[in-house]
Amino acid sequence: MARRRRRNQPVTLTPTEVEGMRVVGKFAAGLLKQVEKIIEPGITTEDIDALVHELTEARGAISAPLGYPAGSAHPFPKHCCTSVNHVVCHGIPSARHTLRDGDIINVDVTPTIDGFHGDTSRTFIVGHAEPEVRRLVDDTYESMRLGIAQVKPGGHVGDIGHAIQVFAEGRGHSVVRQFAGHGIGQIFHGPPTISHVGRRGEGEMFVPGMTFTVEPMLNMGDWRCQILGDHWTVVTIDHSLSAQFEHTLTVTETGVEILTLAEGDTFDLSVE
Ligand code: MF3
Ligand code: CO
Ligand code: CO
Repeated sequence: MARRRRRNQPVTLTPTEVEGMRVVGKFAAGLLKQVEKIIEPGITTEDIDALVHELTEARGAISAPLGYPAGSAHPFPKHCCTSVNHVVCHGIPSARHTLRDGDIINVDVTPTIDGFHGDTSRTFIVGHAEPEVRRLVDDTYESMRLGIAQVKPGGHVGDIGHAIQVFAEGRGHSVVRQFAGHGIGQIFHGPPTISHVGRRGEGEMFVPGMTFTVEPMLNMGDWRCQILGDHWTVVTIDHSLSAQFEHTLTVTETGVEILTLAEGDTFDLSVE
């Protein structure tokens, strides 16, 4: 029998449901591995969307972004988000957008299989990047890693934001406030909100089965963003570069399990 998820109660999954999340999570991670192979100067962001579309359909999966949210006046029109350079998130793939050497691009995929969502993104460097650009991208991954490494029963949502914010700001980057991680399972975006800034010990307490994303966006300049007239594309207000990484994870009895790893991938949970 399906359990009711009360309003504002964190998405908390049964062991059987977590198994469904492992299946879709591994598939989502594999999508990004396939995307990585085609990233090079000269391709368009539509080429990336076409690949995600094709692989998703071949698996019998569904792209949750397409038409999201249901009933909206401005549903998202593509299978994935492609966010280039100063685009923070929710960039719309387009045949008119060709990648150039030195660009950075975040590709964010969310397939569903049997109703479960696997939400993950990575920022790729197109060709060769300046050292300070590479530093932003590497630091954004590290901030996500440190945030995730906080997760264990008895800890709090604020521990994640604190770890991310202290590291990111210590490295001279800013942390986006308007967008956050989220509970996920049979729904795409549910409680709790996982802020990427915060204070240790604040917010929801982690309990086994709680399932959510961690998806920090770090900017080289100002943390503030604005949404363009297409109703989706989020850009930094100062047009500074922005990078993002995202995993879907679940709280275990002893710590955390990353659900969006591909076969053979490892994840370092150390905090030194
Ligand atoms: N995948 C995004 C996230 O991390 C959400 C994208 S919503 C879409 O939450 F409609 F833009 F696809
Ligand atoms: Co995502
Ligand atoms: Co997400």
